[in-house]
Amino acid sequence: MAQLWGGRFTKETDQLVYNFNASIEFDQKFFAQDVNGSIAHVTMLAKQGILTHEEEQQIIGGLESIRDDVNEGKLLITSEYEDIHSFVEANLIDRVGDAGKKLHTGRSRNDQVALDMRLYTRDEVWVLDSLVKKLLETILRIMDENVETYMPGFTHLQKAQPITLAHHFGAYFEMFKRDRSRLQDIAERMNICPLGSGALAGTTYPLDREYTAKLLGFDSACCNSIDGVSDRDYLIELLSAMSTIMMHLSRFSEEIIIWNSNEYQFVEIDDTYSTGSSIMPQKKNPDIAELVRGKTGRVYGALTSLLTTMKGIPLAYNKDMQEDKELTFDAIDTTKGCLALFTGMIDTMKFNKSRMEASARNGFTNATDAADYLVNHGVPFRDAHGIVGRLVLFCIEKNCSLDDMTLEEYKAISPVFENDIYEAISLKTCVEKRTTKGAPGPEAMRQVISGYKKYLK
Ligand code: ARG
Repeated sequence: MAQLWGGRFTKETDQLVYNFNASIEFDQKFFAQDVNGSIAHVTMLAKQGILTHEEEQQIIGGLESIRDDVNEGKLLITSEYEDIHSFVEANLIDRVGDAGKKLHTGRSRNDQVALDMRLYTRDEVWVLDSLVKKLLETILRIMDENVETYMPGFTHLQKAQPITLAHHFGAYFEMFKRDRSRLQDIAERMNICPLGSGALAGTTYPLDREYTAKLLGFDSACCNSIDGVSDRDYLIELLSAMSTIMMHLSRFSEEIIIWNSNEYQFVEIDDTYSTGSSIMPQKKNPDIAELVRGKTGRVYGALTSLLTTMKGIPLAYNKDMQEDKELTFDAIDTTKGCLALFTGMIDTMKFNKSRMEASARNGFTNATDAADYLVNHGVPFRDAHGIVGRLVLFCIEKNCSLDDMTLEEYKAISPVFENDIYEAISLKTCVEKRTTKGAPGPEAMRQVISGYKKYLK
């Protein structure tokens, strides 16, 4: 048991209590950030004359040697220490003696851990952003290649109207684009430095908090030391943004699972991203998409968990807040993994364009266009809707599509129909006539795609 405290205690901590309280198993994840934060703190202490420059150099030299030794595997982070802060400080004192005992001047573990977690997640926000960007690049490549790949668009998972693959993927482009902007908002809002908040009430040393903040790449130091040690909003925002990313990935996965099914066969997931069955030799399962869908619950769980942890905590620091670490780390690693694997999966996936087009051709996806044809010939829309409903009923009885009906059959239901109905309800016309901004028409789509290309540059 190596602890930073003990002076006022007359008995040893119970071993079970020690284990329950310790965080080194997981907070070693921000070892690098802890060392960087300490170097900035000591640099500031020396600038302010609180430490001598000789002490500053000794401490920084010691911290750098600890960092190198850990990175090279010469020094192991072990559970003999309560947390990563104790590990670093104890090793520093071991190496540089009395100067090392001055590292914690004007600092508490409360502002130290608040800093470490902020530094760690700040980097991870940008890693997440770059993974979402890669996914967007893959989506855009597929869109660019499929402006004229027809497929049915669905509502209620029932065929609705014809669209293109580019149009369908474009919806996901918009979702993930919003996800990036959420991450960027969070990065900006969280970039405030809590160091110097002390335990909760600041400190009596003449710290230059703005200087430390600048050294660590923050926009400024926080304005309230109680909030500095108590704020976990930025983690809740990050967990919320990751939950939304996962929700998008999960919806997309669900569609790919449906499209990859034996019944649909719109896509074929590559062998490298599929798995087999131990008993059924014919199986090729979409496990990656299913796992992404499944892991979404884990990330939602982390968000719910931290919201619940925070809701009853009085100001300022309370140990409950240590719970933010494991769940945030797990959510970040899960989301990063899912983004990378999902991107690889769709990048290697094959689209069965003829199946998609054939599916768009049946199922009356052009029924709305047949009604629009009547409207263009002076029939009020509600009447046109009824007439086409009767056409559909006729086709269902005859087991044919609207395109297969003879003109006589059309005219028997409404005399307004002429020979140009076939052209008006062809798949090509149905898609190409949809030229308004955001619609699947190729021209409208190409304009959107060129905007997306500029955005990704
Ligand atoms: N391991 C603690 C955490 O993650 C570090 C802060 C400890 N502060 C304290 N007053 N016990 O929150």
